[in-house]
Amino acid sequence: MSTGIPLNENIYWTGVNDRQTGLFEELWPIPNGISYNSFLILDDKVALIDAVKDISLDRYLEKIRGLLAGRRTIDYLIIDHIEPDHSGAVKILREIFPGMQIVGNKKTMDLLAAFHDIRDNLLTVSDGDTLDLGRCRLQFHITPMVHWPETMMTFEERHQVLFSGDVFGGFTALDDGIFDDEITDLGPYEDEMLRYFTNVIGKYSVMVQKALAKIAGLDIRMLAATHGLIWRNRSRHAIDLYDRWSRYEAVDGVVIVYASMYGSTEKMMEAVARSLESEKAGALRVHNLARVHASYILADIWRYRGVVLGSPTYNTGLFPLMDHLTRLLENKMLRDRVAGIFGSCGWSGGAIKELGDFVKRMKWELVAPLVEVKGSPGAEDLKHCALLGANMVKRLRTGKPWGVNTGGLP
Ligand code: FEO
Repeated sequence: MSTGIPLNENIYWTGVNDRQTGLFEELWPIPNGISYNSFLILDDKVALIDAVKDISLDRYLEKIRGLLAGRRTIDYLIIDHIEPDHSGAVKILREIFPGMQIVGNKKTMDLLAAFHDIRDNLLTVSDGDTLDLGRCRLQFHITPMVHWPETMMTFEERHQVLFSGDVFGGFTALDDGIFDDEITDLGPYEDEMLRYFTNVIGKYSVMVQKALAKIAGLDIRMLAATHGLIWRNRSRHAIDLYDRWSRYEAVDGVVIVYASMYGSTEKMMEAVARSLESEKAGALRVHNLARVHASYILADIWRYRGVVLGSPTYNTGLFPLMDHLTRLLENKMLRDRVAGIFGSCGWSGGAIKELGDFVKRMKWELVAPLVEVKGSPGAEDLKHCALLGANMVKRLRTGKPWGVNTGGLP
């Protein structure tokens, strides 16, 4: 029988892995799965911190029953975040443990009624409230919009564990370990953590910053988010990552994202890329929109300072996949990037104007020249593309504050 994994003598991981879902939120690929983390605290009182999605419930309940050993019940279910990937199991838990009180803030209770029609046996808490379990004591910190209005974090004082909801979470199922110090190479996990952040949480970066300020005074020994690894050795590192990402901090490098219907925009992309490489732009990532899911492209644009977008004109406007990407970026409200744009057209232009308008709306800085070619690019056009690459590198090297839109002027 599976009984969960201990974090310490009181707290156990009782989460489940999801390796069946193809797209998280039906939007974001999760080829390596995802975990829904839930934690059982065994003390004089028994508290469950967050539940799981309504999958693998047999395994989930087996872990909980194993820990309760038939002698105890659950006294409290703390809901830090009620999105159904964490509350899908609430109804069945309520049926099995009818005396279990559900703990959340006022907004949690509104959503609990809306999603699960649960309206009784509730304990509504406010910011700063505490709940004694015996030797363990829980503090509640309301941290709205990370990632829904009701989100809060729960800090267990005795073992200094912060249950942080989605914040500090990451994609990937927990295969070879549930703790950061059990993973030999954290690099691939951190890539998936960034992808999760950009795809799901990044839009609320300002609120992440507020949440980080709020928990800054806590002496945190272990970070336990609702997805991904539990940070027991390098919790400060995980906090730093989320801090940097939510301040839109970027590393040196450029991402080229392009689409090409008949090869013209692709030729232009190659000229820009060669120029970036020869000018030593730093890391260079090239993504063909028709081949790479926007989920991965978002993460790279969040990671690197420079972004160059290349699009053919399609029916007098942006190529649809580029249109989709720009809408996603606007929705995610990423700030402080330096952009270049290029594209090709047949019988009508349009893509470059739309890309220029997009860069203005994003308040990104635009590097000259804007290159638009009718038909196939000639030698002179490719020189302009190379100049765009060189100017991008020059601009990134200055290190001046970013975000001033020059309207394409040098
Ligand atoms: Fe993991 Fe916002 O739910």
